[in-house]
Amino acid sequence: MGKGGLEDVVAAQSAICDVDGTAGRLVYCGYDIHDLAEHSTFEEVIYLLWNGRLPSKSELATLTGQLQKNRALPKEVIEAMKKFPKEAMPMEALRTAVSMLSMYDPEAEEMSPEANLHKAVKLTAQIPTIVAYIDLIRNGKEVVVPKEEGSLAESFLYLLSGGKKPDETAIRSLDIALILHADHELNASTFAGRVAAATLTDFYSATVAAIGALKGPLHGGANQEVIKMLIEMGTVANVKPHLDKMYANHEKVMGFGHRVYKTEDPRATHLRKMSEELGKRSGDTKWFEMSRIIEESVKADKGLNANVDFYSASVYYMLGIPIDLYTPIFAISRMSGWAAHILEQYANNRLIRPRAEYTGKRDLKWVPFEKRQQLEAVK
Ligand code: ACO
Repeated sequence: MGKGGLEDVVAAQSAICDVDGTAGRLVYCGYDIHDLAEHSTFEEVIYLLWNGRLPSKSELATLTGQLQKNRALPKEVIEAMKKFPKEAMPMEALRTAVSMLSMYDPEAEEMSPEANLHKAVKLTAQIPTIVAYIDLIRNGKEVVVPKEEGSLAESFLYLLSGGKKPDETAIRSLDIALILHADHELNASTFAGRVAAATLTDFYSATVAAIGALKGPLHGGANQEVIKMLIEMGTVANVKPHLDKMYANHEKVMGFGHRVYKTEDPRATHLRKMSEELGKRSGDTKWFEMSRIIEESVKADKGLNANVDFYSASVYYMLGIPIDLYTPIFAISRMSGWAAHILEQYANNRLIRPRAEYTGKRDLKWVPFEKRQQLEAVK
């Protein structure tokens, strides 16, 4: 048994995403993330992840059209969402709504590659609508019917604002964030999704497993914790004393460290730049300045680098997105990667069933209750 947590264990062969933790490189189907973040769009990246190659103009137009046409939710799901407790965590509400979708999809149990690809399209298109509706409904606002036009990023911001046209900087910033979060090899949520898919359960069940894993604070939940920490620190002057207190309490600094990257997380490079640009644009660079000091301190004190969750927090904050939607936004993006991995798993499946090294007792003899109580007393 190694270091636990399946560290460095190769658990699947995959042609989707390559993470080189030593060189700090992230590659989707052969394309460096820096190239994609600079030149591509989220829709194009979705095509790439699902097909292993960049699309032609017409292939991209077809996929974009399918994603636009599938944004609306079944009315039964909207009605059920209106009955969710107002204080439900958005990730709980998202997990439950996605689970419900399967009951209104006649293809839910259909396992042909075509039917599974339809489900990939539907879920990728519907999750942004669910996340926006969660926020509208809990704030007592009317849900807005999604338009069958524009990018996924634009549609999400439009729905979230209750029907206002988002500005171009916000759309492109979110689009880049979605590209950066789209896939990351066998991260915890994708692995959870693949394990579920490998039982040949349906696409929705595999997605729900992935959403459940993403919710945890050691995974996608970290971005929300980062902004809470920044708000708690409040000022640049408070950063160091606050960090010292956290170290003294043996608390982890959220948004730092990574199982695979031993160097800079290449996604953080882009998000740092975006955080700075959005700060300058809004005339409030405080969050960026604080983030830089935290980053330098944690590197000096603990030797840890910022991960994707660190700068995405201040980016989303400056885009005016409610804090508890940060992890659901991660899900909006990662749905594309989960789908790619679920499809890849179905295409070449074998049940994923590892072994555990047994560390419990052996060779005990069963005893009746009276004697067990005596045993308790002796202890
Ligand atoms: N702050 C302080 N110390 C840390 C941190 C951190 N963020 N991360 C790791 N360490 C320390 C641990 O305390 C441990 O120290 P020890 O050996 O003295 O006990 C050592 O570094 C190794 O840490 P592990 O948690 O065992 O490393 P692992 O590879 O399992 O963890 C993880 C990776 C979960 C990302 C971890 O770094 C962490 O908890 N970070 C904070 C949460 C976070 O940002 N998660 C998002 C990850 S990226 C993503 O999922 C999208």
